Amino acid sequence: MLLFLLPFLFLLSPSPSFSLNQEGLYLHQVKLSLSDADSTLSSWSDRDTTPCSWFGVSCDPKTNSVTSIDLSNSNIGGPFPSLLCRLQNLTSISFYNNSVNDNLPLDISSCQHLQHLDLAQNYLTGTLPHTLADLPNLRYLDLTGNNFSGDIPESFGRFQKLEAISLVYNLFDGIIPAFLGNITTLKMLNLSYNPFSPGRIPPELGNLTNLEILWLTECNLVGEIPDSLGRLKNLKDLDVAVNNLVGNIPISLTELTSVFQIELYNNSLTGELPRGLGNLTSLRLLDASMNDLTGPIPDELCRLPLESQSLRESIRREFACKHCELAAIIRTQAVS
Ligand SMILES: *[C@@H]1O[C@H](CO)[C@@H](O)[C@H](O)[C@H]1NC(C)=O
Ligand SMILES: *[C@@H]1O[C@H](CO)[C@@H](O)[C@H](O)[C@H]1NC(C)=O
Ligand SMILES: *[C@@H]1O[C@H](CO)[C@@H](O)[C@H](O)[C@H]1NC(C)=O
Ligand SMILES: *[C@@H]1O[C@H](CO)[C@@H](O)[C@H](O)[C@H]1NC(C)=O
Ligand SMILES: *[C@@H]1O[C@H](CO)[C@@H](O)[C@H](O)[C@H]1NC(C)=O
Ligand SMILES: *[C@@H]1O[C@H](CO)[C@@H](O)[C@H](O)[C@H]1NC(C)=O
Ligand SMILES: *[C@@H]1O[C@H](CO)[C@@H](O)[C@H](O)[C@H]1NC(C)=O
Ligand SMILES: *[C@@H]1O[C@H](CO)[C@@H](O)[C@H](O)[C@H]1NC(C)=O
Repeated sequence: MLLFLLPFLFLLSPSPSFSLNQEGLYLHQVKLSLSDADSTLSSWSDRDTTPCSWFGVSCDPKTNSVTSIDLSNSNIGGPFPSLLCRLQNLTSISFYNNSVNDNLPLDISSCQHLQHLDLAQNYLTGTLPHTLADLPNLRYLDLTGNNFSGDIPESFGRFQKLEAISLVYNLFDGIIPAFLGNITTLKMLNLSYNPFSPGRIPPELGNLTNLEILWLTECNLVGEIPDSLGRLKNLKDLDVAVNNLVGNIPISLTELTSVFQIELYNNSLTGELPRGLGNLTSLRLLDASMNDLTGPIPDELCRLPLESQSLRESIRREFACKHCELAAIIRTQAVS
């Protein structure tokens, strides 16, 4: 009898949470699970009826259902609060630049409507949960600047809608897997600055024909640049600098008709700069310094059009100067 009455006693008590809706109650529990040194969450008051006016919370104006949580730069800490996944219409979570720590839990996959997940610049550790690939609508995944380690899970080959993934500045130590070439929706693949095991650039990345940004700086890459990268007709930014790549610069790179920036510096590339690079009218930045290249710099490269005065200035600084550095390397080798 007493047990039966308990819920009613709770409802009748002068608890301030009396009128807060269920989603607000979940968020209030989330608040209790986090450290909040700057009291960023002081507006998360259980005297409100909905959480929709709380700092960092956005709701659908029609249903008052929470659609987004943005607690960027808020100095909050603690493990990732999976309880957030009880919010059934939540599509976006950002904890960018906080102290979220521990492993990312497997049950993050219960956030079924998530489209945007930004956990960059936190203290997350351990391996990536393979269940991330079970989020059917995930489009944006930014895990830059954490301490994730181990392999990129094989399940990642199954993402259906992923457009951007950044794993920059972590401790991943497997190889860059070929199955990333299965995520054909990708526009941005940023893997720079990880202590990967020595491995090739997977030729399968040439299947990512929607790709606009491919960032593989300092990834312990060996072997040759695959010809297949020339198939990336939408690529604007290719960065494979600071690796141990060898062989010639593939002629196929002259087919990157959208490319703006090519960074090849600090590898062991040999042979000549492909002449057709000068035909890439959208190319503005090319750095092939610190390699073992020989031969002439194609005249066309010096005649590429410049879009604006500020760009012209930056290119005078960046491009022209790197160009000279390259010229110097070539001259040295031609003489010796
Ligand atoms: C989620 O949104 C739908 C329609 O937009 C609405 O019917 C439903 O009540 C919302 N869910 C919650 C838990 O508020
Ligand atoms: C990170 O957040 C802190 C506040 O917690 C802020 O002072 C700092 O400027 C932020 N850093 C970046 C890079 O945004
Ligand atoms: C992250 O890794 C760095 C480098 O290994 C280490 O110094 C740091 O203590 C680690 N931090 C956490 C929170 O694991
Ligand atoms: C990648 O796609 C290929 C071809 O469709 C398929 O055979 C393979 O199983 C997929 N790999 C992963 C890890 O999803
Ligand atoms: C990915 O790399 C590009 C390089 O052009 C950079 O502009 C972008 O900010 C990076 N994105 C993330 C999420 O790190
Ligand atoms: C992906 O690329 C590889 C190598 O470039 C190729 O062998 C493979 O057939 C491609 N897979 C698909 C599904 O297009
Ligand atoms: C060139 O790359 C090597 C590792 O491959 C690294 O040790 C060195 O610091 C790099 N130099 C520059 C100027 O980036
Ligand atoms: C550059 O483009 C011109 C005009 O389309 C073409 O005739 C020439 O062969 C191209 N040069 C190279 C090296 O691909």
